This record gives sequence, C-alpha cells and structure tokens, in this order.
Amino acid sequence: MTGREEIPVRISSAEIAARIEDMARDIRATMGDQAMIVPVLTGSFVFAADLIRALARTGADWPLDFITLSSYGQGSESSGKVRIVRDLVMPVAGHDVLLVDDILDTGRTLTAAREMLLERGARSVRLCALLDKPSRRVVALEADFVGFSVPNEFLVGYGLDHAGRHRGLSYIGVVET
Ligand code: IMP
Ligand code: MG
Repeated sequence: MTGREEIPVRISSAEIAARIEDMARDIRATMGDQAMIVPVLTGSFVFAADLIRALARTGADWPLDFITLSSYGQGSESSGKVRIVRDLVMPVAGHDVLLVDDILDTGRTLTAAREMLLERGARSVRLCALLDKPSRRVVALEADFVGFSVPNEFLVGYGLDHAGRHRGLSYIGVVET
C-alpha cells in the first residue's frame, strides 16, 4: 500500500507528552537516585526516548540498555512464548531496574522479562508501561507505572506497530485487525 492512510487518533501526542512528564516525576520519586532503565524493544523505543528526557528534567541520569523480546509473530496475537531476540550488553546484578514497555497486554512479556532480570541478580525490577490493556491479561501482573489504561483495541503509532507498520506515527491510533 502506498500513500497516507487515516489512522484514527486514540491518544494525541500532546496527551502523551503531558502524561510522560507526570510519569517521570512519579518514577523519580519512587526509585530515587540510582536505577537502570531497560526498554523492551522494539515497540518501546519511542516512549523510552521521551521518557529518559523527561527523567533527565527531574535530575535522573541513569544507565540504559535495551533488550529485544518477542512473543508476537507477524500478526497481532501473542504466541505465548517469550524469547530473547537480542540480549542486554550491561550486567544488571545489583541494580534497581526499571523495565519499560510500550504496552502491557497479556502480561507474558513483562512477566518473563522480570523473571530473567531477577535471575541475573537485579536487586529489584519495577515495570513501566505507556499503555495498559487490563482486559487482556492472561497472567496476573500489574505495572508499577502506567501511562494510560486502554480498552481492547489494537493500537499503533508512537513506536507500536501492526505487522511492522505505523511505528512512526506521532500519536497513538487504532487499526482494525
Ligand atoms: P504481552 O506479552 O501480551 O503483554 O504483550 C506485550 C507486547 O505485545 C507489547 O510490548 C507489544 O509489542 C505487543 N502488543 C500488545 N498489544 C498491542 C497493540 O495493541 N498494538 C501493538 N502492539 C501490541
Ligand atoms: Mg513490545
């Protein structure tokens, strides 16, 4: 497909920006002076980029390392099995880790990620998700920091994709799946 399709807006870029400022203050107040940020690629890279700059405005200057996990194939349904596609470079032992993801859906990805980091000796692991779809949860899990609670729609933009598309939208939109 070529050209621009209209993707209906669910959360505007201004709403996202304002919410991230609040989240950063909350994270800083809870986590204190020392933490390590671990964004889960790929979907969280846009959120993570804005979040670390909002954190910097609160005075937090924390190390960051990415992990790439996959539980989805080409479509929009979770396969249920989470695998490491690209691992962290930095050791996490002894760190208070902030795991950052775009969206908390079934909960499988962040549950598995948290277990992996605790096994490697992280002192604590807190979860931060820009979006939360509580109605989709398969494993009991709550994030420590959530941007927006959303209904069960397939969301794209601001880093989130559907079959590899729409990551570059500056807002969160919805697609039919
Ligand atoms: P979970 O393991 O089911 O919680 O899945 C979390 C991951 O699934 C997210 O990090 C996203 O990559 C992907 N995902 C879940 N829902 C959506 C959505 O509505 N749009 C885009 N990606 C989604
Ligand atoms: Mg993801």
